[in-house]
Amino acid sequence: MLSKYFKAALLRKIADKVGTPTYVYSKAAFLKQIGTYEKAFKGLGPLFCYAMKANSTGALCALAAAEGWGADVVSGGELYRALRAGFEPGKIIFSGVGKTQEELEYALRSGILFVNAESREEVLALERAAAKLKTRAPLSLRINPDVDPHTHRFISTGLLGSKFGVPFDEALRLYMYAAESPHLEPVGAQFHIGSQVFSARPYALAAGRLAAFMLKLASRGVNLRYADAGGGWGVKEGGEMQDPAPLAAALGGVFGGTGLKLVLEPGRSVAAPAGLLLARVLYRKKGGKKDFVVADAAMNDLVRPALYGARHPAALIGPARGAAAPRDIVGPVCESGDFLAQDALLREPAQGQLVAVYSAGAYGFSMSSQYNSRPRAAEVLITGPSSWKLIRRRETYEDLVAAETL
Ligand code: LLP
Repeated sequence: MLSKYFKAALLRKIADKVGTPTYVYSKAAFLKQIGTYEKAFKGLGPLFCYAMKANSTGALCALAAAEGWGADVVSGGELYRALRAGFEPGKIIFSGVGKTQEELEYALRSGILFVNAESREEVLALERAAAKLKTRAPLSLRINPDVDPHTHRFISTGLLGSKFGVPFDEALRLYMYAAESPHLEPVGAQFHIGSQVFSARPYALAAGRLAAFMLKLASRGVNLRYADAGGGWGVKEGGEMQDPAPLAAALGGVFGGTGLKLVLEPGRSVAAPAGLLLARVLYRKKGGKKDFVVADAAMNDLVRPALYGARHPAALIGPARGAAAPRDIVGPVCESGDFLAQDALLREPAQGQLVAVYSAGAYGFSMSSQYNSRPRAAEVLITGPSSWKLIRRRETYEDLVAAETL
């Protein structure tokens, strides 16, 4: 269980010092997931590009960079953050379905490893960007392998009919075009089938299709160097990541010995187990049928329960009284969808008691907003048994209006 990384006494100290709501991360837990990946893929020597969208806070990204990892970015803003956090430009890849010409130029000027393009028109935009900068753009295509990852429909991306990637026949035409262009250099191919994928099977299927396609390309004189299998490996909420050995076996079975450099883009599996959202109980109330715990964190801080019906385990910190009963932990935002947990089995919380919502290190803070004009939460990194540091201060009311003019 994750609570071993987050001792109650330390959480209380942090809450007293920086207030709530606060995201608390564990350096040890973050590095543990990185180590688990490294071990599982040892024989394959892949390039791991941490998917920054999961959590792009500088201090966490810097931990991945220091381990020699690269970054998968999906916007100019993430590229800016990646460079600031210390990722080597030559280990940064740029994904996403709608990169602008400016973002592509920024990527080329920064000397990133490759761009994962997703449409003919984007390939042309990349070519224009490279021509303008008098360079050759390293191109990879995101291919839609038409594989069902069996996950939530909002995070399923590898089936035809999703907006992502290009089908194989279109990819073939685009690679042949790129091979002829003085401003494009085809270097890789990518797929990303979805997120919260718990089986290696769809990866094996997609990888097999990609490998066959790469052979066909090679027979036409286009030899790629990188095979990028995306991210998406699942994490059981409340636990560490599931064992990635089957994933390594599946990808190794297809790409091992081919001479291709395998690239992976894990996000959630690295960051989710490494963070929790710490809140305080404001009020207890009985609804008609339910017991509500009104906390000072809300859907603007952690939107996953509202958006995907995600079930993040929640626990009271410190002594608890009474019997465990199903309770909803809700926030102050004016929406019925504003809940952090539903029917969580909790004993009786006291007013002012701390409550932790686990598995919140990924897609928690990075998806947070200021909805209801709530300043964004603070972020803290636990660095040792009793040491921690503030890695992002709590936003202020001034921050809310800093970009506005009356
Ligand atoms: N690579 C690409 C191209 C992606 O689109 C994603 C995630 C990843 C890598 C990382 O996937 P991961 O290893 O984190 O599963 N907001 C949603 C998740 C959206 C995932 C989007 N793409 C959530 O909170 O569940």
